Amino acid sequence: MTNEDIEKIADDLEVKSAQEVLEWAIGEYPKIALASSFGAEDVVLVDILVKIKPDATIFTLDTGRLNEETYDVMERVRKKYNINIKSYSPDTEEVEKLEREDGFYSFRDSIDARRQCCNIRKVQLLKRAMSGLDAWITGLRREQAVTRTELKKIEYDEGNNIVKLNPIADWTQEEVWNYIKENDVPYNALHDKGFLSIGCSPCTRAIKEGEDVRAGRWWWENPEQKECGLHH
Ligand code: ADX
Ligand code: SF4
Repeated sequence: MTNEDIEKIADDLEVKSAQEVLEWAIGEYPKIALASSFGAEDVVLVDILVKIKPDATIFTLDTGRLNEETYDVMERVRKKYNINIKSYSPDTEEVEKLEREDGFYSFRDSIDARRQCCNIRKVQLLKRAMSGLDAWITGLRREQAVTRTELKKIEYDEGNNIVKLNPIADWTQEEVWNYIKENDVPYNALHDKGFLSIGCSPCTRAIKEGEDVRAGRWWWENPEQKECGLHH
């Protein structure tokens, strides 16, 4: 498919609901999977997706530095929907090398060091998760960051050479939470403690009233640099 084809489909999908986008995508791309970190957006997508296709592939990148609350919600989701969560772990040798040479908090030293950790603990796992897939689904939203305002519901992910679907790109935070409450979807307990966007434990903190959605992620970096390599 050319970029022009994708842009045309993006215009069509823009007016469709998340359910409609997912129904279309499942029909179009038999080898499709949801990437879930089990934050608020991602549990919404699990609920919508499983209601359409109970055996849909859902994968998670288990970086090895997640909060206990994240494992807890993964387990509650796993049981409630009776699904397998395809988890991926980082390469043991690479993690050992990183920790032995640069310590346990190397990601605080510089942006490059942080990206190196994200590369070993997330990006490499994503590459493995994507091999053999036609398309992947994310919980990205335009409102989340300055780096995400142009997001389309369908894009060609050049970095990974695969189609990327963002079915709730146009949702507001309020819509996400209304969906969770109305559908009784399990969510990460950290959200009740001031955490809005949740990643790895040492790189995520609670935010104060009025702060930006992703202010608690890599809070020592500039907003323009706060992408870990999963999204460009
Ligand atoms: S991140 O790039 O800064 O970590 P963010 O936490 O906002 O991204 O999540 C955006 C989307 O990326 C999620 O909705 C999900 O689709 C995907 N994602 C992020 N982290 C993971 C993870 N650990 N496992 C699987 N998917 C993830
Ligand atoms: Fe490493 Fe932090 Fe990136 Fe997690 S978010 S992979 S701990 S740098």
